[in-house]
Amino acid sequence: MSRGEEVRRMFDAIAWRYDLMNRLMTLGQDQRWRRFVVKQSGLEDHGAMLDLACGTGDITAAAHHSHPHCTIVGADFSPIMLHVAKKRFSHLPIHWQMADAYQLPFRSGSLSAVTFGYLMRNVDEPVAVLREVHRVLAPGGRVVCLDTTPPRGLMRPLTNFHFRVIIPLLGRLVAGDHGAYQYLTGSTMGFYEADQLAGLFTEAGFSVVGFRKFMLGTIAVHWGSR
Ligand SMILES: C[S@@+](CC[C@H](N)C(=O)[O-])C[C@H]1O[C@@H](n2cnc3c(N)ncnc32)[C@H](O)[C@@H]1O
Repeated sequence: MSRGEEVRRMFDAIAWRYDLMNRLMTLGQDQRWRRFVVKQSGLEDHGAMLDLACGTGDITAAAHHSHPHCTIVGADFSPIMLHVAKKRFSHLPIHWQMADAYQLPFRSGSLSAVTFGYLMRNVDEPVAVLREVHRVLAPGGRVVCLDTTPPRGLMRPLTNFHFRVIIPLLGRLVAGDHGAYQYLTGSTMGFYEADQLAGLFTEAGFSVVGFRKFMLGTIAVHWGSR
């Protein structure tokens, strides 16, 4: 089975408990970061934004709430995550679409902004995905990425404990899937440092690349312009 197929099956399996796990793991902070992502997208009153790897749709819905006149699309390759998103936000005029991040079903230069939360950690070729995102953005369009980042510094023992003990335990008790949340810990510890990830955005062709960290330096939001 390819890594993509494994990742897709894993998210299909945890989709129904995904939101509750997010609130618990982040002590309720995750929605604040999602609103920051939308703010950094630079979306104006009219325009089209893609929330790629939208999962259960939190960033997508936040984008609609702050930009009700924009066209907002949520896309993901997991049918069950997408099903949960559609069910949660069926009252909102959001377009939901199955799509693989490596091959986006959008015309070149057609979007004003692309956001994604916790996608980069799950793909084998982040630069290829970033180039594809660059292709669909209009000149001046912005990309914004939310992801975990390996814990460093004085708080490292505390954050290590959170990732290695608390998160897999919550995964077993709440989501009934210890493996999926062990995967989260492993993929976070082995992921790029925030400045290395910023370098990948530059390599993919983005300019004015920057990032800001949250939650004791374990979460980073990166951005760049086409
Ligand atoms: C951790 S969830 C994040 C969901 C949402 N962005 C959030 O902020 O909560 C990661 C999502 O990425 C999706 N994903 C992973 N690889 C993908 C790919 N190659 N193309 C599209 N979606 C992908 C998964 O299906 C999953 O829904």
